Amino acid sequence: MHTKPRARRGRDVLVVGGGVVGLVTAWRCAQRGLSVAVADPEPGRGAAHVAAGMLAAVTELQYGEQTLLGLNLASARRYPSFTEELEDASGLPTGYRACGTLAVALDADDRAELRELHAFQSALGLESVWLTGRECRRLEPMLAPGVRGGLRVEGDHQVDPRRLAAALLRACERAGVDFLRQPAGRLSVVADRAAGVVLADGSAVPAGQVVLAAGCRSGLLEGVPEEALPPVRPVKGQVLRLRVPAPFAPFLSRTVRAVVRGGHVYLVPRENGELVVGATTEETGHDTAVTAGGVYELLRDAHELVPGITELPLTEALAGLRPGSPDNAPLLGRTALPGLLAATGHHRNGILLTPVTGDLMAEIVTGGDPEQALPFSPARFSRAPGTRPEAPGTRPEEPHTLTEGVPSR
Ligand code: GLY
Repeated sequence: MHTKPRARRGRDVLVVGGGVVGLVTAWRCAQRGLSVAVADPEPGRGAAHVAAGMLAAVTELQYGEQTLLGLNLASARRYPSFTEELEDASGLPTGYRACGTLAVALDADDRAELRELHAFQSALGLESVWLTGRECRRLEPMLAPGVRGGLRVEGDHQVDPRRLAAALLRACERAGVDFLRQPAGRLSVVADRAAGVVLADGSAVPAGQVVLAAGCRSGLLEGVPEEALPPVRPVKGQVLRLRVPAPFAPFLSRTVRAVVRGGHVYLVPRENGELVVGATTEETGHDTAVTAGGVYELLRDAHELVPGITELPLTEALAGLRPGSPDNAPLLGRTALPGLLAATGHHRNGILLTPVTGDLMAEIVTGGDPEQALPFSPARFSRAPGTRPEAPGTRPEEPHTLTEGVPSR
């Protein structure tokens, strides 16, 4: 017998997407007394399941992105109190580690590039200290003898994105957020206003406001008028996880990164013995295949930086999709459709921007207009009719795992 899809209880806020951005938005809104639901078949996964968790506002600084830098720094400053509050609220660790970062150069070209970055950082008043190759190796003895110099950035730390997501999920549950464990199928629009979503099983979830926080899929929800669709695209990153056995520890004591022949590689050592090596940057659409070329590139560059890496067991190879936006900055706030908001497009900074995103989105949802969010308003992009991105499928892509089931310490 065919059962008619039921109408679900209405909510103040319905968040589409349960990655860290969706979860932090839901948590902060629930803390303000709103009734909140999150639609996601697997909340707590998304790009955070793959991400390394560098909080690299200073070392990942790009020319022309000074406005974004301000938001990145503001979020980095919130991290200590944010993780403390989240750990208290959830009873779970987040893996936040104030360990600093070392960015090194391997040849004359890399050194020149890093010198330029140092000059740019200094001009902006950012804390970054130039070190000789010998000084770099004194800090990190596993570095290759050929390291030509580097930058010590004491303020760029790390967090464990998987733990962060698990803690956010638990904090949301404890704050009364309801999890609808299926994809949102379509936005409901009533009288030119977002009025909720229809889930994949056909049930309608009415809501006062809908927040699009589905990462690189945020532009694909059916029913969203073209002028309100966030212009996000998937930017693939392949990442490796290795294990540092006890006799090798501490292999590295802080995040180490380098430009190797123009490509960026980073190594993020966790306190639990995990070493994360990332990441490729590929514009290949909604594709999460781990490729031989991607793994080769990462291991080749990581080996050049830290030759001893070849001794470590490889436990995982994954690919995730960053939500890229046209200016590499996030979209935070109201879209062109009343009642529909966006929290997406965080590109390389999703984990770093999690604390500030939650605070700003909760303020906007409750009627505020925070000045800090103005440069990141979705209104800065106007989408011409007829440019809706092509939906690659109806379900979110799963990150592909090459080596599953290998226990990590
Ligand atoms: N922020 C690191 C990455 O996107 O690879």
